Amino acid sequence: MPAKINRQWILAKRPRERVEASQFEWRESPVPEPREGEMLVRNLWSLLHPTQVLFLNGDSGDLSVPLGTPVRGAGAGRVVASKLPGFAPGDLLEGWFGWEDYTLSNGHGPGRDDPPPTKLPPDLPAQHALGAFGITGMAAYFGVLDIGKPAPGETFVVDSAAGGVGSIAGQIAQIRGCRVVGIVSGRERRDWLAHELGWAGVIDRQSEDVGARLDALCPDGIDIYFDNTGLVPLLDLALVRLRSHGRVVLCGGTSVYCLEALPPGPAHYFDLILKEGRMEGIYGAMHEARFPEARAALAAWMREGRLKPLEDVAVGLENAPAAFARVFEGKNRGKQLLKIAETETE
Ligand SMILES: NC(=O)c1ccc[n+]([C@@H]2O[C@H](COP(=O)([O-])OP(=O)(O)OC[C@H]3O[C@@H](n4cnc5c(N)ncnc54)[C@H](OP(=O)(O)O)[C@@H]3O)[C@@H](O)[C@H]2O)c1
Repeated sequence: MPAKINRQWILAKRPRERVEASQFEWRESPVPEPREGEMLVRNLWSLLHPTQVLFLNGDSGDLSVPLGTPVRGAGAGRVVASKLPGFAPGDLLEGWFGWEDYTLSNGHGPGRDDPPPTKLPPDLPAQHALGAFGITGMAAYFGVLDIGKPAPGETFVVDSAAGGVGSIAGQIAQIRGCRVVGIVSGRERRDWLAHELGWAGVIDRQSEDVGARLDALCPDGIDIYFDNTGLVPLLDLALVRLRSHGRVVLCGGTSVYCLEALPPGPAHYFDLILKEGRMEGIYGAMHEARFPEARAALAAWMREGRLKPLEDVAVGLENAPAAFARVFEGKNRGKQLLKIAETETE
């Protein structure tokens, strides 16, 4: 019988400035056999998110992906062979897998302090584990509730609102009684998001005057601004419209991840003084001890039909680079995921 093939995407060039398919090389090799202390995982899902570009650019310490090696990132897969105590064929895992059919794991993350692969509950769809119940949902939950502290009737503005974190953050604020306004790029995505989530408004930052639209949609100002992109012009527009004791939640900097040199910071941060406002970062991973609380709340809202996990699923390992590039082209509608295989026997 011919050996099974492990199809892989290898990191050929670091994606400085922009993400392009030419930075990845397709390779096929025999599926490796696990040795003592290893297990073989059949990858089923991969999470494609902006943060991953930091790993690919070698800027992330232990998590950095060396050139010439398979692209690594958060994924879900099933154990198909194991010589590692505690893991057995059939276990469904979330872990640091990659853009390949099969990954050998010794039960640790790539770096000393990374979370090891963990078993997923059998009743949790693997793609939700990576999206709403993964770091995406955790950043949104703790960012909105712990840092944003929304109160009923307040105005909540979020950018990258059609993305994974942004769409969940806005929905949590809405559940807490806020008027929610999202900022996205692209008219079609604006209309799609407005239709999907029924927020007070969605602004297309490409074709519309964002300041004028914020004035129209937030006539009394902004109580909470949730920043996913690190786009300084948007942050400045929010700072000048911040209400007394307003909060700015800093969650991500998608606009700068590929840049060699950082752009200048916001000009209007003095507004925080006059309004006694706060600007504070959220780092979801720091809240691990409370993940069960967050997952229980998110699951309950989903069951009640109050939270929609928006997911944009690309199918097929061969499409990984193109699907990843979509995230930086502002094309994803919800959390961008890659489905590598339906089952471990595929
Ligand atoms: N702090 C934490 O613990 C934590 C956890 C997870 C994620 N994050 C961060 O949160 C942010 C959102 O994460 P996500 O995974 O949900 O990603 P996402 O929002 O789905 O990311 C894709 C979106 O980012 C926007 N974008 C892409 N390139 C951009 C650029 N050059 N400039 C400005 N906007 C750009 C586009 O939206 P538009 O074109 O519609 O703006 C695109 O649709 C990311 O920065 C991520 O690194 C933080």
